Parts: sequence; structure tokens; C-alpha cells
Amino acid sequence: MDPVKLMKQEVGRAAAAQVQSGTILGLGTGSTTAFAIQFIGERLQSGDLKDIKGVPTSFQASVLAKQHGIPLTTLDEVDTIHLAIDGADEVDPQFNLIKGGGAAHTREKIVDGLAEKFIVVVDSSKLVDKLGTTFALPVEVLPLAVAPVTRALTALGGTVDLRMGVKKDGPVITDQGNMVLDVKFAAIDDPAGLEATINNIPGVLENGLFIGLATEILVGEVKDGKATVRSL
Ligand code: A5P
Repeated sequence: MDPVKLMKQEVGRAAAAQVQSGTILGLGTGSTTAFAIQFIGERLQSGDLKDIKGVPTSFQASVLAKQHGIPLTTLDEVDTIHLAIDGADEVDPQFNLIKGGGAAHTREKIVDGLAEKFIVVVDSSKLVDKLGTTFALPVEVLPLAVAPVTRALTALGGTVDLRMGVKKDGPVITDQGNMVLDVKFAAIDDPAGLEATINNIPGVLENGLFIGLATEILVGEVKDGKATVRSL
């Protein structure tokens, strides 16, 4: 198996192993969390886990959960989320994140932010000293506001690209029916300040900076062809 896929698989397995019976789970989005959902499903089918309900963060998470036999619920029906498991595009040493590579960061921030414990599952390529160094910051925007929000983000020093679809002409449309601007900053010196500043631009729904939400980072690594998982 390709080493990145192997790291994602093992880190997903390690996160799934932390799930306890009787919990409400936030189910994240992306290729790494997909492995966690698969392994949670396997534990449920084997009887090792019981009485789990998942709150999906995207259409993808909902489809995967159904495929792997994880019962779903909604934020209207639960008072709390005990544990959220989700991926990230960048992780800094303070556990701040950039998310939204899959355009799901708005629902992810709602669900992950409500969780008592939020485990981030990443391969080692996602660790950075400073956010914004390798990945553009995703910003979900109401379609009618794409032009003024682009100007406002450019004025903040970002290079802005409207995210385009793959195997679909035109822009990516989020699960909420909005568009995504990917904003490349040289490096983000004040992630908390930038998160608030961007969310204050009229027409912005949510940006992919997750500040102070993660409680544990599980990092998949490959050494001598063998996958290991490290907890930060
Ligand atoms: C979804 O919008 C994202 O926040 C993902 O959680 C993030 O892009 C990580 O995805 P991978 O696990 O596929 O790298």
C-alpha cells in the first residue's frame, strides 16, 4: 500500500480504538476519517462496541456511516457530542488547524467545536510550524458575495482562488449550497485574529481556521516501511 494511505489507515484505526460504547460521535470528513469510520463500523458489527450514534459533518460522512452500519443522529436530537474524530490539512504546535480541503469545514467546525474531546487524525505531512505555509485557507462564501469577499480577502494580503469542481464544470458547491474561496497567505502570524477578521466579512459563512478546538492529535508515520501512530 502507498505509504500515505498506510499512515491514514493506521491513524484511523487508532482513533476508532478510542471510541467507547454509549457515546455520541462527531464523524469528520476526508480520506483519513473515512478509515476511522470504517473501523468504528467493524467494531460495531463485531459486537465490540454498542450503542453508538454519529453526527455526520458532511454528505460524505453520512454516506460512509450508513455504509458501515453506524446509526446517525442530528444536533437537534443530542445535547452533547462526547468525541469528534476529524482530519486536518495543517496542524501547528499549539494544536491549531487549517481544515476545509474537502469543503466541509463549516459543518465540521460546528460539530468538532461542540465535542467534549476532539481527536485530529493526520499523516505526518500535515504538521507545520506555522499555519498557512503549505495550504491555502478555505473560506465558505454565499454565492452572491463572492466578488466583494474576494476583494476583502485580497486587501488582507491573501491570494484568492475560487475553488473549481473536478469532473464538474464551474465552482465547487458546498453541502450548504455555497462556494469556497481558497486564500493563500504567506504565513498566518495570528490565527485567532485572522479567523475572527475573516468571519466578520459580510457574506462569509465560515473559514477553515480551527483555533483551540483539538484536544489530541494522532499522527501517522512510516518508518522502515512500517506504519506507527504517535499521540501529541
Ligand atoms: C474536509 O473539508 C477537511 O477539513 C478534511 O477533514 C481535511 O481536508 C483532511 O482530509 P484528508 O484526511 O483527506 O487529508
